Amino acid sequence: MAFQLLNGRELSLTVLTEIAAGVRKLIAAGRRAPHLVAVLVGNDLASETYVAGKMRACEQCGFRSTTLRFGNDVTQAELLAAIAALNADDEVDGFIVQLPLPPHIAEQAVIEAIDPRKDVDGFHPMNVGRLSIGLPCFVGATPLGLITLLDRYGIDTTGKHCVVVGRSNIVGKPTAMLLMQKSNPGNCTVTVCHSATPDLARYTRMADILITAVGQPGLITSSMVSEGVVVLDVGITRQPCATARSGYRLVGDVDFDDVAPHCAAITPVPGGVGPMTIASLMRNTYLAATANPLDQS
Ligand code: GUN
Repeated sequence: MAFQLLNGRELSLTVLTEIAAGVRKLIAAGRRAPHLVAVLVGNDLASETYVAGKMRACEQCGFRSTTLRFGNDVTQAELLAAIAALNADDEVDGFIVQLPLPPHIAEQAVIEAIDPRKDVDGFHPMNVGRLSIGLPCFVGATPLGLITLLDRYGIDTTGKHCVVVGRSNIVGKPTAMLLMQKSNPGNCTVTVCHSATPDLARYTRMADILITAVGQPGLITSSMVSEGVVVLDVGITRQPCATARSGYRLVGDVDFDDVAPHCAAITPVPGGVGPMTIASLMRNTYLAATANPLDQS
């Protein structure tokens, strides 16, 4: 079967260009540029790379951006004080605290300290709760990126069986919630599988749309999918690679070469969901600065 490649890199550029046009209009109307702050703790290599990518995207959109760095030894009280200052700063529209945090800091306490109106990651319980009952909110960047991919590629989701592999708070749960909502994209019958699911293939074979977010390279093979499935691969694992300039390569949860010939459409890794996540964070930041979803009911 000839499959359609869901090119997240290309689509993300379209989204960033749209946002940049919006920013130019704001500036022309005498408003300031949207401002995103990323809080980065320690020197985790993957987090450094992700934050650098987010700051680069800010530049492409015409946003102001700031990276606020803390050492690995920052105390929770210091971090909470920094968050309180960002909450109070009228020059900051949205901010993120890049995860993971060092083990001595309670991640949930940090997330709950963020003003939900500036929570462009959509991690605060206020945003998660509003998402679950279908109220306007900040939708997490990865779930929003997945929905945008389905929407912009014109993939009809109504009545489809969507199987989500992974139940994380960042991807699996909010994605399942979005796709079951009475909206388009949405209106799916949703099954969520996880590490305690026996015979995973039994479920994945029933999927019209398969979304994997577990970080297990090669987990999904051709014997686990049906002909004509749409596959969105959220897994991003770094594997050492001697021939890559960076010394590593990114691989998804799906054995792409094996699975793709059976798909109607599939995302590559890299260049699929990853760039859409960053573009969606930019979308959320633009919303925070212009039409905050938490002001709407
Ligand atoms: N770590 C991995 N993904 C994310 C994300 O989307 N946001 C934040 N803040 N940290 C992350």
